[in-house]
Amino acid sequence: MEKIYITTAIPYVNGTPHVGHAMDYCLADVCARYQRMLGNEVRFQAGTDEHGNKIFQKAKELDIPVGEYVSENAKKFQEFIKLLDVKYTDFIRTTDKEHEKRVQEIWKKIKDHIYLAKYDGWYCNGCERYVTEKEYAENNGVCPDHQKPYEKLEEENYYFRISDFKDQIREAIESGKMLILPEFRKKEILKLLEESPDVSISRPKAQLTWGVPVPDDDDHVMYVWIDALTNYITILGYPDTDISDWWPAYAQFVGKDILRFHAIIWPAMLMALGLELPYTLVSHGMVLSNGQKMSKSIGNVIDPIEVLNRHGSEAFRYFFLRHIDTFADSDFTWEKFEDAYNNELANDLGNLVQRLATLCYKNKFELKDAPKLNLSEEYTAFMNNFEFSKAFDYIWEKIQAINRQIDEDKPWTLAKQNETEKLQKVLESEVTTLLKTANLLTPFLPETVDKIQRIFSGTITPPEEPLFPKK
Ligand code: MSP
Repeated sequence: MEKIYITTAIPYVNGTPHVGHAMDYCLADVCARYQRMLGNEVRFQAGTDEHGNKIFQKAKELDIPVGEYVSENAKKFQEFIKLLDVKYTDFIRTTDKEHEKRVQEIWKKIKDHIYLAKYDGWYCNGCERYVTEKEYAENNGVCPDHQKPYEKLEEENYYFRISDFKDQIREAIESGKMLILPEFRKKEILKLLEESPDVSISRPKAQLTWGVPVPDDDDHVMYVWIDALTNYITILGYPDTDISDWWPAYAQFVGKDILRFHAIIWPAMLMALGLELPYTLVSHGMVLSNGQKMSKSIGNVIDPIEVLNRHGSEAFRYFFLRHIDTFADSDFTWEKFEDAYNNELANDLGNLVQRLATLCYKNKFELKDAPKLNLSEEYTAFMNNFEFSKAFDYIWEKIQAINRQIDEDKPWTLAKQNETEKLQKVLESEVTTLLKTANLLTPFLPETVDKIQRIFSGTITPPEEPLFPKK
């Protein structure tokens, strides 16, 4: 049995969850459930990123004390994760006092790589990020993610000397010691690494009070990303506790938009601390709405709670894990979602369970032994390579094949012809294949698998309600 640590990006709480936020959770949850299925012990972190200017400004706009505002939204994220049936083990809020104390200790530990200097350049408030001259020029002074002009900034900041670690980071990425997935992002990151200047890791208190104070300097608070990235280890107890049981992480799930922080700044911090790098950074694509980025101003934001209330967690997981590609950007539309629900979940799987259980019931078939867990090489390869949407496609082909097999076997004709022995054999093969396929489905649709296993054990009785009633 291995100890496996899996992490998710912690969302900013300057708003409520949107469907894009589900990606980290769904992918990490499949990974975690798969590892548990293999018999490994899993620790699964989730949390909320609660400091920084954006959040402070938002609370001010709404005229709510910032502490109250972040608590309210943090609660919404926790409820959302629960509704998704995501089984995390640890939840961190970056305003937790324990976290703040540990971040300060971490700062002190990496002090040799920190210096004070003047920053005179560009900043994107939306990204909470300093922007290089080159980027400024490439994007004509406007952030492509936020559609807002970069702001001019002149201030004194603490800097973290990324240059101390560039060679080592490059080596870790090139050799795959810290694997970046998908592969094609590796090149992008290596290029960014070369161009990366030292990063500013503090803000003057005069401009930002909502952050972790820099130790021994009352004039500065930490840049939100420093405090955010360390969450992955402070939640494990670092530096007060030995974290070597869990660290390095088996997989860290992040969106492609924040991969650069995780593939450059984060490894540099870990190196400065003398800690190992995570084994894998998995960067997923973006969920789009009708081909466009979701945004309040376009009015195409999909409320995940509405999706969950209408269709439940299993249908949500189904769509986001199969039809949203693990690595590429993919579109969410209600039409696509409802088509997938009706044609695939209700027809392919729901009807299959219903008609097979009915055939078993009518012909008094009972399965003696449920099949043991037996994972094919193909499935294992997809799962180990984090290609979850491909694994899901692979499972679905099997489900469709069972449907075809039943059509070919025609158990109803065998029943009419009183071919009892042959009929029992055919049903045995069909039910066994279904249960084997259900095993593969366990990390994806846990509730559905549970239902299928219950239906096909003991006296087989078709469920009163179809698994996925047509909508
Ligand atoms: N607070 C930072 C992360 C700090 S991690 C130490 C942040 N927050 S976020 O709320 O903007 O994003 C949280 C996660 O959701 C990120 O992994 C991000 O990529 C993901 N997504 C946000 N919008 C998304 C989509 N539309 N589609 C897919 N994922 C998206 O970044």
